[in-house]
Amino acid sequence: MLLAEMSWEQVKEYLARDDRIIIPLGSTEEHGRHLGLGTDSFEAEAIARGVGEATGVIVAPTLNYGMALAQMAFPGTVSLRPTTLIAVLEDILRSLYRHGFRRMLIVNGHGGNAASLASAVQMVTQDAPGLRVKTFEWWTDSEAYRVVIEMLGEQVGSHASPGETAFMLAICPRAVDLSRLTGRDAPVKPSREMTTIQNFAQKYPDGVMGLDPRGATREVGEALLKKSIEICAREVEVWSN
Ligand code: NI
Repeated sequence: MLLAEMSWEQVKEYLARDDRIIIPLGSTEEHGRHLGLGTDSFEAEAIARGVGEATGVIVAPTLNYGMALAQMAFPGTVSLRPTTLIAVLEDILRSLYRHGFRRMLIVNGHGGNAASLASAVQMVTQDAPGLRVKTFEWWTDSEAYRVVIEMLGEQVGSHASPGETAFMLAICPRAVDLSRLTGRDAPVKPSREMTTIQNFAQKYPDGVMGLDPRGATREVGEALLKKSIEICAREVEVWSN
């Protein structure tokens, strides 16, 4: 069920029997020459809707803007400031809490959102007794990411790389243009230096962090989506004490 397609009365009826909701968190930001700017939003939404269908839990509208200041050198990227994103998330979570939602799963699609998301959850839970929040990110979840590694190899990279390209081939192929790909590798080397607008475009001139995305296939993306939905459905069903 999609919150945006329900009436307030239907939400009231739902809340009389359930207190769970899924919130997709996306971003509008460069994803290499070959992927649409909405990639992270599409991914978070595809997982969230799949979980909603599998469990009957309401899915809130996707937040299509995130914190992407490091990618601002690339045209089309739209970024909230971290403090803005914290404030927006606080307001969304507080609104849902006020109506009676107590268990929330936030499906995050963009790494740059993670710090603001963590801060917002800490702020809201200060004065929201009984509120429980889980988060899921497909690329930091070892079980989900193993699917990609098993099919593409260890150096799958991260942002706009083969794994993410495969995901998009499965969920939104019209936002993928493989003819624009340039065959080159930019392996993600571990570094203590923080990623910023000053160094991101220098290190990743075409916006891809990782290996040549041409290894991506739709099958990998479908397997990744299926596994992500399976993990999140489990998290939505089981809340241990
Ligand atoms: Ni992404």
